[in-house]
Amino acid sequence: MKTLIKNAFIIDPINQLNGQYDLLLEGEQISEVAVKIEDQGYQLIELAGRILLPGLIDMHTHLREPGYEEKETIKSGGEAAAAGGFTTIACMPNTKPVADNPATVEYIKSKARDCVVKVLPIGSITKNLLGKELGEIGFLAEAGVKALSDDGNSVMNSEIMRRAMEYANSFGLPIISHCEDFNLNGNGVMNEGYYSTILGLKPIPPAAEEIMIARDILLAELTGARLHIAHLSTKRGLEMVCDARERGLQVTTEVTPHHLLLTDKAVKSYNPDTKVNPPLRCEQDVEALRTALQDGLIEAIASDHAPHTFEDKLGEYDYAAFGISGLETTLALIHNEFIQADLLDWNDLVRLMLINPANILGLTVEGIKAGAVADLTIFDQEKTWTVSKDKLKSKGKNTPFAGWELQGKVVMTIVNGKVVYTDLDDQGKIRY
Ligand code: DOR
Ligand code: ZN
Repeated sequence: MKTLIKNAFIIDPINQLNGQYDLLLEGEQISEVAVKIEDQGYQLIELAGRILLPGLIDMHTHLREPGYEEKETIKSGGEAAAAGGFTTIACMPNTKPVADNPATVEYIKSKARDCVVKVLPIGSITKNLLGKELGEIGFLAEAGVKALSDDGNSVMNSEIMRRAMEYANSFGLPIISHCEDFNLNGNGVMNEGYYSTILGLKPIPPAAEEIMIARDILLAELTGARLHIAHLSTKRGLEMVCDARERGLQVTTEVTPHHLLLTDKAVKSYNPDTKVNPPLRCEQDVEALRTALQDGLIEAIASDHAPHTFEDKLGEYDYAAFGISGLETTLALIHNEFIQADLLDWNDLVRLMLINPANILGLTVEGIKAGAVADLTIFDQEKTWTVSKDKLKSKGKNTPFAGWELQGKVVMTIVNGKVVYTDLDDQGKIRY
């Protein structure tokens, strides 16, 4: 069965495409890309100039399965990813049991067969994420994990982190570091500053993150490891990452939409959906991250999709779970706030949400060309929509962006040549 996609505005810096084309899909692959392809009675998708990108990757997702299926399953997380325009997601190991062993990784991989997007498991650095003993790094590598991370927890013991980096190196894996000094964070719930003072909430100083970034950079220098700093949120942290990169270390970083678009002022509402770790920071930090993103100093944008149940987020701010459900809003938020505002262009976005994450995870991406796998993200720049908890595919409705009106929406996601999500209205003719 062949599918003809007509009049797609393709943006693909991998194959230097930037213009209107037709595409023919055959089975799982793209079989032809040309300015005009005759319709010979194929299945037809008329895009009328909508944007078509090579399928995006979210390199930082929490899928919660096994163990916390009430928050999310691999299936529901996959549907959320597809609705958000991602064709591949890398999932963090803080499940129950933790993905610190090959059996759990195999379980995730087997469940992922029923998932509409591709799932790449990340293995833990230490057993049970406790930071006390190294996980089975060699076996995890053999089971096919793409990176190692104790995300959600920090590896506080520097000797253990050193050994982890050495092992990760010998298996060619990057370490994705959740940087948080557990002693200094003092069980805080929001950023330390003016707002924590007036709101009377327990503070987390930026230094709790920065100290661990500094340590991990020193350890990366000592071991030659590939180090990726997860969910960077402060200006000083950014400066250290830039300095490490300038010194030739293999240090990369990612930023989330919420750390780019919200400050700690948002906590004023005491809305538990603003509670996230690292916390929403002050204006100067947010400004520094936004500028760095535009200057090409941050490699990746990741959702840090952290779905929680209604009950997990219920009650007082102090007791609510940390995390934001992000898969379905990441691309649209970045489009609305950065592309629409001419602060980034689509080529930047493909670098931030596909090419660089793929490089960090050691994946090859072919982009849009004949013979490549048909993983595609289709985006309508004109379509407006309002973020609404009820409409999220994710089980986690915990978004602080509810009620935001956005211009630009994912309208179709294709994985291995199959349409896995569609929201094309009647302007786009589909004969299917
Ligand atoms: O807010 C967060 N939620 N930050 C993390 O590092 C972990 C995550 C989770 O797993 O819920
Ligand atoms: Zn995370």
